[in-house]
Amino acid sequence: MKFITADTYEKLSRQAANIISAQVIIKPDSVLGLATGSSPLGAYKQLIEWYKKGDIDFSGVTSVNLDEYVGLNGSNEQSYRYFMNKNFFEHININIDNTYVPDGCASDLKAEGESYDRRIEMLGGIDLQLLGIGLDGHIGFNEPDRYFVKSTHVVDLHESTIKANSRFFKNIGEVPKQAITMGMVSIMQAKKILLIASGKLKREILEKAFYGPITPEIPASILQLHPDITVIYSEN
Ligand code: F6R
Repeated sequence: MKFITADTYEKLSRQAANIISAQVIIKPDSVLGLATGSSPLGAYKQLIEWYKKGDIDFSGVTSVNLDEYVGLNGSNEQSYRYFMNKNFFEHININIDNTYVPDGCASDLKAEGESYDRRIEMLGGIDLQLLGIGLDGHIGFNEPDRYFVKSTHVVDLHESTIKANSRFFKNIGEVPKQAITMGMVSIMQAKKILLIASGKLKREILEKAFYGPITPEIPASILQLHPDITVIYSEN
């Protein structure tokens, strides 16, 4: 594991964007596993800037996102599809048909999970998976549990996650209680993993996840077993 400490969130974002752009330059038809939330926003902004300068070409890239709220469709401003379109996809030349986010409104969410995993398999797996980490150690929406869940599945969000994510909603009552998330197999089979986290609040969970025992109680701890993972942390 490579653990990098950046002085500021801006530097963290630049380093993360560097790793992502190197991946795309080396393999223009990369499959990128992408995340939402506050952590990747700076990296997306930087990548957009480099794209506009003509330094990166996303036309051959396919993306698969980690998760989506159950019950929110892509036109809902709080959905992760909307987030990705607004904060990244609309500003680069990725083919929108090659961007995948689990469908949180599918009538059969179990079947949606299965077909999402099949799609990732058909794409040949993920080349680079970008991750954030929740305060309870979740990655994607794999919440602390008694076991690691392998496939894309529906989860009940924990109170702490609902509370943390309520900052994006008008009030906490509006935060969906469930999400559909990629499971541990697709994440762990990614050829490379890049996890980014910033802020003093994330320090303790990072220590537990990467220097403590591997346990489903801290889902991110499984990443200790990944052969090619880079973690970038900035305190500010
Ligand atoms: C989002 C996701 C989540 C976030 C995590 C951290 O797609 O998969 O695991 O990465 O909740 O969120 P932020 O970055 O907002 O602190």
